[in-house]
Amino acid sequence: MPPVLYHQGGFPPKELDLRRLLPLVGPANAELARYDGILSAVPNAGLLLGPLTTQEAVVSSRIEGTQATFGEVLEFEAGEEVANKEKRADIHEVLNYRSAMYHAVRRMETLPLSQRLVKEAHEVLMQGVRGQNKAPGEYRRVPNWIGRPGCALEEARFVPPAANLVPDAMSAWERYLHGDAPDKLIQLAIIHAEFEAIHPFPDGNGRLGRLLVPLYLVAKKLLSSPDFYISAYLEAHRDQYYDRLLAVSRDNDWTGWCVFFLNAVIEQARANHAKARAILDLYQEEKLRITDLTHSQYGVIQYGVMALDWLFSRPIFKASNFCSAGNIPGPTARRILKICIDEGILRTLRPARGSRPAIVAFPRLLNIAEGHEVF
Ligand SMILES: Nc1ncnc2c1ncn2[C@@H]1O[C@H](COP(=O)(O)OP(=O)(O)O)[C@@H](O)[C@H]1O
Ligand SMILES: [Mg+2]
Repeated sequence: MPPVLYHQGGFPPKELDLRRLLPLVGPANAELARYDGILSAVPNAGLLLGPLTTQEAVVSSRIEGTQATFGEVLEFEAGEEVANKEKRADIHEVLNYRSAMYHAVRRMETLPLSQRLVKEAHEVLMQGVRGQNKAPGEYRRVPNWIGRPGCALEEARFVPPAANLVPDAMSAWERYLHGDAPDKLIQLAIIHAEFEAIHPFPDGNGRLGRLLVPLYLVAKKLLSSPDFYISAYLEAHRDQYYDRLLAVSRDNDWTGWCVFFLNAVIEQARANHAKARAILDLYQEEKLRITDLTHSQYGVIQYGVMALDWLFSRPIFKASNFCSAGNIPGPTARRILKICIDEGILRTLRPARGSRPAIVAFPRLLNIAEGHEVF
């Protein structure tokens, strides 16, 4: 089969079958609003949900073939050495993804969601990664195509527009992004698909397109913080994800894509809600427990909650680093660590060996973020 070509002149879509979309638009917006109820009520949602952001970076990168797991990324961050070169490169890409996300969120305080912001995010995403000619932050100057890894152009499934057409296509994309649409979530669906179809960068388009989702939700005030994780659904339905994108260009089937995307939003809003709820409950529960456990120990109690906050940003860590970033005196930190391990709040992943300190984990938090028992 010859490759499907970019739908030149076919954007934005001229008609959408709203009869098929409207039954999904209501539930998608409702689930999102319900999820935002949690985000807007919790002042430190960003901190507590940090592990979910890392997990999203892992899953979104995994859709594109990286092999690093959530645990490996966190162990690397804790200072563990990674002998395997490929693995190290994968971890690097995952951490870049998260940095790109944080960079974009910070920039959105002063800059609208725009081509410029997307280019900046791409630059962070591609910092020091494998492969030549990745040209961080710049649109491609060469053709590209989508298909089996390493396939020739004739064997491709899809061919995006020629490089010289990318700037105009991206301008149209940006105009659409800032314009009005029948519904913001439909607009988001179309923005993701069009971005993928243009494929403006040599690489990183899939990841950037997914990163756009939380950014858009915040920019359009559908969520109060950028803690929306779409990738688990896209990974679980990857073939359908690619097929629906292809059908946009091949059959002008924007409606089919929007149906798929709205279902992804519904399912992930529910899943995100459940995880966020579980994490907040865990925080409250452990706060009571730590306060209680440190109760009789003079000088420890006021530091218990500080230690807990620290743990949420570092659910795997070197024992010797415990609370190093906080203002907790060393001996107190060691006492709290011992109490937490003795009580089973924390678990030693690897005991200390020689001069190498123990690696310690916060299993309940990690398991919630992963969605199943791993630790
Ligand atoms: N037929 C298609 N039309 C448009 N986009 C597609 C199609 N098939 C896959 N994609 C998108 O292309 C992405 C892969 O592009 P790529 O630039 O390699 O992203 P990354 O570097 O993040 O791996 C997929 O994740 C998907 O979003
Ligand atoms: Mg790629």
